[in-house]
Amino acid sequence: MAVTIIVGAQWGDEGKGKVVDLLSEETDIVARYQGGANAGHTVVIGKKEYVLHLIPSGIFHKHVTCVIGNGVVIDPVALMDEIAMVKSFGIKIDGRLFLSHNAHLIMPYHKLLDSIREQGVNKIGTTGRGIGPAYIDKYTRTGIRVVDLLDRTVLRNKLRTNIEEKNQLLRQMYGSKEMDVDAIIAEYEAFDKKIDPFITDTSLYLSEAIRKKKAILAEGAQGALLDIDHGTYPYVTSSNPTSGGACTGLGIPPTAIRNVIGIVKAYSTRVGNGPFPTELNNETGERLRTIGGEFGATTGRPRRCGWLDMVSLRYSIRINGIDSIALTKMDVLDHFEEIPVCVGYRRKGKKLAAFPTDVRALEEIEPIYKTYRGWKEPIKEARSFRQLPAAARAYVKAIEELSGVRISIVSVGPRRDQTIIR
Ligand code: GDP
Ligand code: IMO
Ligand code: MG
Repeated sequence: MAVTIIVGAQWGDEGKGKVVDLLSEETDIVARYQGGANAGHTVVIGKKEYVLHLIPSGIFHKHVTCVIGNGVVIDPVALMDEIAMVKSFGIKIDGRLFLSHNAHLIMPYHKLLDSIREQGVNKIGTTGRGIGPAYIDKYTRTGIRVVDLLDRTVLRNKLRTNIEEKNQLLRQMYGSKEMDVDAIIAEYEAFDKKIDPFITDTSLYLSEAIRKKKAILAEGAQGALLDIDHGTYPYVTSSNPTSGGACTGLGIPPTAIRNVIGIVKAYSTRVGNGPFPTELNNETGERLRTIGGEFGATTGRPRRCGWLDMVSLRYSIRINGIDSIALTKMDVLDHFEEIPVCVGYRRKGKKLAAFPTDVRALEEIEPIYKTYRGWKEPIKEARSFRQLPAAARAYVKAIEELSGVRISIVSVGPRRDQTIIR
């Protein structure tokens, strides 16, 4: 056994939470490697729906240990609230959740700066969770890490320096109200005892687990097309959701990775701004949104909807090294007579050979569609590939052919049992 990476292959919200929860049954450890509480991973068990933002989606399986790696940016307030929420469901957390001592913290000023920046001209449409500003501090080397919460003097000094700098920025650049240094220090000093039991050298913990041949799932947040390096920059998040991020974000070597499972929604969605070649700004897009319940699990914003885009998917497969696909939300397509799939891009009359990540180019794309026949019957009860209608099987096979990657899981509903393993 070794590490399996679960990566969102599109713009996030592909159903990573469902698949991670499902695969957790045969997993020892689930580890988040990047992002923060901008993620919203939904797990449906029976009639209950749970949305996780920071805690890995394996937490509902008693035998699973959950890790939040060094690559994640942690809002301690959000984390403590989420721990309390999960505990209130009767789930034991103590001894099952480990937090990297090296992970960076999201502070109130990060959230404030995130929201102020979004009032400017270049709106990204962020989740407002302070993600970008926290990663800025990490990379300018002024960030505050989880371990700093354990030394009140260090924490006080770092907070003071950071807040004084941010206050200057708030005052001079944004003409906004300054933050109260002492109030923030008082609030965050109190986290030491609460967070101490969870703090671990998670890289060391994982390397021991790898040595003992434990089964580990590395749970990506967001999606490949939101990757800071490989996504549709600047309309991206501030971390590396792509599979490479799992190594740096967990402190594990590439040689420990066994496989990469790409989570692919049977159509496309995107929240926030940025190019989206197959977007449907019409009644069909509205139908996908309504039937698919496409509203953000974190912010509640309506998700933009469109058809599946094989050009961006092939790019995602290449960048991530995806070797099998979990195709989700197939049941949402039950209602459509015809299902177009984007099989190529044309720009200024010319066919493009590869996915352009340049936003200007992407905004001028004309998708080339191939249309597949809908199956027009409910598939939520199908539990084997054979039980799917012929047109649904043909759709799955077409995606396999167009992508060159095997689809090993087909999800036909949000619940654990609404899954076909091939
Ligand atoms: P994540 O961020 O990738 O974990 O995905 P989200 O949880 O944000 O969004 C996926 C949504 O689709 C959630 O509401 C899931 O419960 C739901 N979902 C997952 N798989 C399926 C499926 O196969 N069919 C349907 N109808 N819903 C699904
Ligand atoms: P999960 O893990 C979908 C989007 C935001 C915005 C951009 C930058 O649930 O799939 P940020 O707050 O990260 O600075 O916002 O990224 N975004 C997501 N979209 N799913 C997510 O997470 C997302 N996390 C961030 O909407 O466009
Ligand atoms: Mg989500």
